[in-house]
Amino acid sequence: MKKIYIKTWGCQMNEYDSFIIQKTLEKKIKCKTTKEHKKADILILNTCSIREKAQEKLFHQLGRWKILKKKNPKIIIAVGGCVANQEEKKIYNRAPYVDIIFGTQTIHKLPKMIYKNEKYKNILINTKLEGIKKFNSKYFYKNKNISSYVTIMEGCNKKCTFCIVPNTRGKEISRPYKDILLEIKNMTNNIKEVTLLGQNVNSYFYKNKKNKNICTFSKLLHKVANIKKIKRIRFITSHPKDFNNEIINAYKKIPKLVNFLHLPIQSGSDKILKLMKRGYNIKRYKNIIKKILKIRPNMKISSDFIIGFPGETKKDFIKTMKIISEINFDTSFSFIYSKRPNTIASKLLDTTTLHEKKKRLYKIQRALLQKKIQWNRRMIGTIQEILVYKKYKKNSQKLIGTTENNRIVIFNGSYNNIGKIVKVKITKIYKKYFKGKIII
Ligand code: SAH
Ligand code: F3S
Repeated sequence: MKKIYIKTWGCQMNEYDSFIIQKTLEKKIKCKTTKEHKKADILILNTCSIREKAQEKLFHQLGRWKILKKKNPKIIIAVGGCVANQEEKKIYNRAPYVDIIFGTQTIHKLPKMIYKNEKYKNILINTKLEGIKKFNSKYFYKNKNISSYVTIMEGCNKKCTFCIVPNTRGKEISRPYKDILLEIKNMTNNIKEVTLLGQNVNSYFYKNKKNKNICTFSKLLHKVANIKKIKRIRFITSHPKDFNNEIINAYKKIPKLVNFLHLPIQSGSDKILKLMKRGYNIKRYKNIIKKILKIRPNMKISSDFIIGFPGETKKDFIKTMKIISEINFDTSFSFIYSKRPNTIASKLLDTTTLHEKKKRLYKIQRALLQKKIQWNRRMIGTIQEILVYKKYKKNSQKLIGTTENNRIVIFNGSYNNIGKIVKVKITKIYKKYFKGKIII
């Protein structure tokens, strides 16, 4: 039996895609997955190109795999994901020992491509944006996890000027809601938590060919919440422009929606938001948060920030620092702006030095960490609902789970609690996790 090794970089959607790749290959070409790349017959790399150095990272990795292939020329090397869509043939030109280049939306073609490559020994490239086909229900697999990702839509019709995703994942496509529900219902009874995935889940919109059976994102949330075995619902990523009142009101009606929302703001300056073509201003962002907090006072908000976007002055940056204290973000991510090929922002004049950008990033990351620490401290002594994932370590009496705002909690408890939501009092904070005492 052949062995496959899959390496995944990037976002949750890539992780979900890699899961489909694994299950499809295991079924179609009778192979087993290995965690040791040295033992693999087929090496697969699922790449990410959201920020720079993606290409360099790819060729470094391929260089390492080239050595393995020299020893065993029968090894098949396949490259997929966003860099494959972005670079296509160029990957082969620079690394001619690559056998297969597949795209974000041709993962379902991989078994056939492998079969053909074995037979005819020629390079195969297919990075077409085939849309919905990869979600064909044939590819559903019984998932035994307690928590799982489910892609509900893919691609993006927005044109944020810094972003490469619309080029690599194509136009927005929403999966039929019946397929999404079926996929979740098909999971074993272990499943308690789903994270709905999409580049912009808020713009999920499905209608059938007769323009009937219309389903919006908030309607989909209600439908998912009606599945009894699902106890927690998360979603990622949201876009403030599409975060409408219908979605805000879902928080009132659906207790299964966690008290945690990732809502990327990118900048605290209206001028920069305009240059980014984000389609909202700070007033609108604050208004959304205000409305949500009114419904759910315990809601924690996390965000993404881009530092050093072309045209960002010290004044703009100060506005970003200000918004962090105003909104009281829980946990957030921040990145230095990275020029991406064929994006509108790549043509903008960028005069800020890298040194200055790094200084700004350091400042913002310190402020964001401070916010996170403050929230950690506030959580001490509180009772949190924890979804228990597993034993902390093999043979340990301790269990490990997460709070609604993604904090890891370790506590003593019976193995019967695995897969359940239990109440735990937070007693101590460490750098990477909390300790707690089970209440029920
Ligand atoms: N809606 C998207 C988010 C894009 S990626 C999705 O879920 O697919 C996540 C974050 O990466 C963005 O919110 C943004 O803060 C950051 N990002 C995207 N492009 C970037 C770039 N060119 N430079 C720096 N950061 C970037
Ligand atoms: Fe990218 Fe903006 Fe879409 S960040 S994925 S273009 S919403």
